[in-house]
Amino acid sequence: MFRRLISARNPIQFGSTIRQVLASKPSNESIHVHGWVKSVRLQKSIAFAMIHDGTTPNGLQVVFRNPMLAKVLTNGASVRLTGILTPSLGPGQDSELLAEDVQVLGVCDPETYPIQKQALTTEYLRDHAHLRARTDVQGAVLRLRDTVMRRLHEFFHNNDFIYVHTPIITSNDAEGAGESFRLASVPSHPGGRGVSTENTEFFNKPSYLTVSSQLHLEAVSNALARVWTLSPCFRAERSQTSRHLAEFWMLEAEWSFVRSIDDLCDVAEASIKHVLRLESPDRDLLRSDIGASWAVMAKPASEVPWARITYTDAIHELQMSGARFEFTPRWGTALQSEHERWLADSFAHGPIFITDYPASIKPFYMRQNDDSKTVACFDLLVPHVGELVGGSLREERVTVLEAAIKQQGLDEEAYRWYTELRKFGGAPHGGYGMGFERLISWIGGVENVRECIPMPRWSGRMLL
Ligand code: 4AD
Repeated sequence: MFRRLISARNPIQFGSTIRQVLASKPSNESIHVHGWVKSVRLQKSIAFAMIHDGTTPNGLQVVFRNPMLAKVLTNGASVRLTGILTPSLGPGQDSELLAEDVQVLGVCDPETYPIQKQALTTEYLRDHAHLRARTDVQGAVLRLRDTVMRRLHEFFHNNDFIYVHTPIITSNDAEGAGESFRLASVPSHPGGRGVSTENTEFFNKPSYLTVSSQLHLEAVSNALARVWTLSPCFRAERSQTSRHLAEFWMLEAEWSFVRSIDDLCDVAEASIKHVLRLESPDRDLLRSDIGASWAVMAKPASEVPWARITYTDAIHELQMSGARFEFTPRWGTALQSEHERWLADSFAHGPIFITDYPASIKPFYMRQNDDSKTVACFDLLVPHVGELVGGSLREERVTVLEAAIKQQGLDEEAYRWYTELRKFGGAPHGGYGMGFERLISWIGGVENVRECIPMPRWSGRMLL
């Protein structure tokens, strides 16, 4: 019965998206279109309106031969339009809607509507995050997120990686960097239904929001061979930079039977290049400025091999560069963002892998190299953004791993399940994590990751 009801429904009654309407051929049949008014132009004997629904960069032009019909329209109002799709004489559009009827579904006071037509500053739009997606640029960024996610699914599916879900609430700090948000043990609404008011741990141990899915992915990759996820991650970093968020999304891939760092870099490079080769129709859904950034910055990178150098060589290049850095590059210290930018922007003029960092500045799980000073890891740096990806071979030798856990002062008991993975047929494995907002920032030429996610959170700031 339910199925019959659904199949009997005429999709045109439900209304098509503006993208679907613009992709269809003009005909004499009346159609319905839903959206939000972007602009209205009333003239004596004719009126025009632009209607957006976020499925295209430019929206749909609606022509009113009877301008009285358009009088009810104000910027921001949500509307249902009935009309006939006709070929357009205007530049930059193939068709337009000849309106027969207008229904305002949600009124919008043009005087107090925060999304006015004049240019709005980035900071102003951050303050109006609940309405920000109405702007053309935010719309394009959100469509880019959607496209990039689909391209990533395509790449990993084509290469036999299984998409898995890992916990958001966890008992471990995967990076051991002390940047986890700890969950409060007291209920936020004391006495709330089904919630204990006792001040005890909800779980049997302290719990945190995940900083990375890696350790859980490692467990699954030792059964399903190739796995990946795209998951929210949380870091209580107080950084106020253009590339740090407290809540961000991380793509993580993990797979077994890896032999070398080059294997890891090959997969990271191939997966990102697959994303960079945006084609129509996805490419057409970007706004022109974001599409232009992609064409200039990211697309050319998909056509050349990416440089790979060791950390030791990178430090040498930085020291010999003659560039003025705030922090002097020194072996054994982390690369600062100014160093990362120089390596990608000025040295490689494109993406560059830096491999084999000193063990002392990296987490416990990375596989030690034979020199016992460095670990088998890499960071991928890209122009304008800096670090985009971090990955490594994982230490599969149980005694070496246990020694590293001890040496870094971590709770050995908490990692027992992790070391046990190595005892029961643990395969050599490795993987990487990529900041999704940083990828969007690079591809779309978006200055700050805060504009690459609909509701950004960073230290000192959570509006809604
Ligand atoms: O280098 P990170 O810390 O590596 C890990 O978390 C590994 N466990 C990943 C793995 O091997 N599975 O983080 C990986 C990437 C960074 O390169 C960066 O792009 C992004 O995650 N990232 C952030 N993005 C936005 N805001 C933050 N605060 C971020 N911290 C890391």
